[in-house]
Amino acid sequence: MKGVILAGGKGTRLAPLTAVVNKHLLPVGKYPMIHYSVLKLREAGITDILLVTGREAAGDFIRYLGSGSEMGVRLTYRVQEEAAGIANALELARPFIQEGEKFVVMLGDNLFEESLTPFVRSFEQREGAMVLLKKVDEPYRYGVPVFREGRIIRIEEKPDHPRSEYCVTGIYWYDSGVFDRIRRIVPSERGELEISDVNNLYAEEMLLAYEVMADWWIDAGTFSSLQEASKYMLKRQE
Ligand code: DAU
Repeated sequence: MKGVILAGGKGTRLAPLTAVVNKHLLPVGKYPMIHYSVLKLREAGITDILLVTGREAAGDFIRYLGSGSEMGVRLTYRVQEEAAGIANALELARPFIQEGEKFVVMLGDNLFEESLTPFVRSFEQREGAMVLLKKVDEPYRYGVPVFREGRIIRIEEKPDHPRSEYCVTGIYWYDSGVFDRIRRIVPSERGELEISDVNNLYAEEMLLAYEVMADWWIDAGTFSSLQEASKYMLKRQE
């Protein structure tokens, strides 16, 4: 299975730290944040990886990761010209994925403990798409699944009144039909192509599966979560 890491975006919630450094190159423990996404994919046997990032930072990623050979992976790069949303970044993976091929997508600011291996195996047996959920204290900060009879019927993006205690983490599995679905969505109120809108198309067709993550997980996109991630990783490394 191939992997796609999305590491573009503006990182506005971390300004001014992100004024000159891309969010995914900020330090977490002993490494730049992006290091962990690559390791997580490799740990699950995923070594053919596409990295999508913005124009300003692309050279920095290449300087740090190069071809990927030092980390035992093979990297391909694509540039997202404008931070037009997660689904817009994902669309750049179209030439990297063959018709009928399944793949995993990771948001580069999601850091976690659990191995992806069992989830990769589980998606190999499925059709459509799959999301990884995590029980959190403040679901309103994320995409939140709405369940009916044990199935996700919809995902609400940053709802004022969350309908469950779970968030949709930034780890997704898709079949190659995702690219046609991205073409069917329109920009949200914040002007972005939202990944939750793509996932909702799968949910409408009853093709959205899920698994739940039990261990530590964090979206390191805010000052406090970045610090927490750094502390967690440093402790493990020392
Ligand atoms: O972390 C999980 C959450 O990630 C989910 O629960 C939400 O449903 C999902 O929309 C997303 O929410 P965020 O508000 O955290 O997304 P953010 O704009 O911070 O972007 C997340 C990652 O996606 C970031 O690491 C960079 C990448 N990205 C983002 C945008 C907007 C791109 O590569 N290009 C983009 O244009």
